[in-house]
Amino acid sequence: MLLTVIFGASTLYLIWWILWIAMQHNKYDHIPGPKRASFFLGNLKLMATETIKAGNLGSFFLDLTLEFGDVFVLWRATLPTVVTCDLPAVKEYYTNLKLFKKPKQGYLNLSRIGQTSFLGNHSILSDAGGPNWERKKRIMDPGFKISRLQEHISKFYVIGEQVADDLEKAQIENGFVDFAKVIAPYTIHAISSAGFSVISDEKLKQLSDGATVIADHWVTQFKSSNFFSRTRLAEILGMDGPSRPVAEKQLKYLRELGKQLILDRVESGNFGKANDALDFIIRSNEENGELNMKLSVDDFMTMYEAGNVTTATTLSFFIAQMTRNVDCLEKLIREVDEIWVGRGISRNSSNQDIVAALKDMVYLDAVINETLRIHPPVTVGNRILQHDMKIQNYAIPAGVAFTVSQQVMHHHPQFWKDPDIFNPDRFLHSKDIIPFTFVPFIVGPRRCLGKNFAILEMKVFISIWLSRLTFEKSSSSKEEILTEQSLLVRMLDTKTIVKMRG
Ligand code: HEM
Repeated sequence: MLLTVIFGASTLYLIWWILWIAMQHNKYDHIPGPKRASFFLGNLKLMATETIKAGNLGSFFLDLTLEFGDVFVLWRATLPTVVTCDLPAVKEYYTNLKLFKKPKQGYLNLSRIGQTSFLGNHSILSDAGGPNWERKKRIMDPGFKISRLQEHISKFYVIGEQVADDLEKAQIENGFVDFAKVIAPYTIHAISSAGFSVISDEKLKQLSDGATVIADHWVTQFKSSNFFSRTRLAEILGMDGPSRPVAEKQLKYLRELGKQLILDRVESGNFGKANDALDFIIRSNEENGELNMKLSVDDFMTMYEAGNVTTATTLSFFIAQMTRNVDCLEKLIREVDEIWVGRGISRNSSNQDIVAALKDMVYLDAVINETLRIHPPVTVGNRILQHDMKIQNYAIPAGVAFTVSQQVMHHHPQFWKDPDIFNPDRFLHSKDIIPFTFVPFIVGPRRCLGKNFAILEMKVFISIWLSRLTFEKSSSSKEEILTEQSLLVRMLDTKTIVKMRG
């Protein structure tokens, strides 16, 4: 009897589920897109195989955009995702928080690793939006204004010099440099030092070791889970990556370290004196004199994850592009010689002099922008559509997952002349750039909090490096810059030759 009931209920559930899937298909079948390979798995297999071939999710979306047009639908198993580069829709996506919200549970694969909170669901980055997030962003924003970050410029300077020392040392020891490996710990040091005023070498090392293990975990996770993201199903099937236990252990350790830093700051009576990101994290998680420690640590982890791999990746792509565009490198070195070296900028210079020099280095700005255009470290974004909308002639129902891809916006031939050519000069005439087509930090209310931090850090690092050394392509490296999907996008070959300048 019981078996009959269970069998009957399961059959009814299966029928209901199949009907639900068929209705979903019916709702979206008027929108173009790749053919579903299977009723239940949709385009999952295509996503897995073609993303590996294309090198990252954004490049895969670009290929589909060029094939299917400005709006298309892709099926992650039974769930549709609408992808668009239609400019009026992209504008709404970035600016209209009522129409496009981040997913309610935060970003699934960012909220936790295993059972340990990673960024949680309500950090400044993972919160879907609403009054709490608005309050937090309003409090944190002033902490990332250029005028405030300038106070920490000497910390960037010291770290930039250490990277240059290590680049030179690695060249002498090995005859080449694996630049991604050299740079990675230092972007972590930058956020630890300029963001959290951590100065102890031992703590800096612990923080960078932990963050590196977590970053490595995402590569294996993406390879093994093939786009389940890190859902319960992937965990149950054991497909969320063999590196998960080690990453989870490091994560616990980093969170504990973050908690200690926060407690030290509050209990030592130093809160508010450093004027760094940690002060702003504490301020934004305090209400009626009560500090929410869980949320504070979530935000601490957020600054690490959002602020370190993104910057390290951009610096790596910068070096790779410079070794393949020697004219640009020479022009940039001329600017560094004229302004940075010419004005005698050193670690003893005043913050104002360093900032004034950086402001005048317009070609450096253009090179960084062009690097971010060709290689946005975050290649896709993800929101949920809150109300029905129409894009071109397509009716899009509320509730659907929605993607605008930086890679598509930055490479579409409709928006950019010769999109695959590295040409920083296009940013010297920035009025020619179509709004919403250059979005490495996105725009609108959910724009990157750390944009100024990242740009300042990269400009200081590059100026110091190029005043001392230059880069040359290793003869074993291919002309094409190949990548793989990690949490962000990761370069496969990161070798270069470093030459000391006379
Ligand atoms: C080249 C470097 C960087 C790039 C390309 C970058 C890119 C981005 C992008 C695309 C987003 C939007 C993500 C989304 O839609 O969910 C974002 C958000 C964010 N970024 Fe960055 N980022 C960089 C550096 C940094 C740094 C250095 C920090 C902190 C020190 C930081 C902190 C944040 C935070 C807190 C958010 C969430 C803002 C919100 O949701 O209101 N980022 N970043």
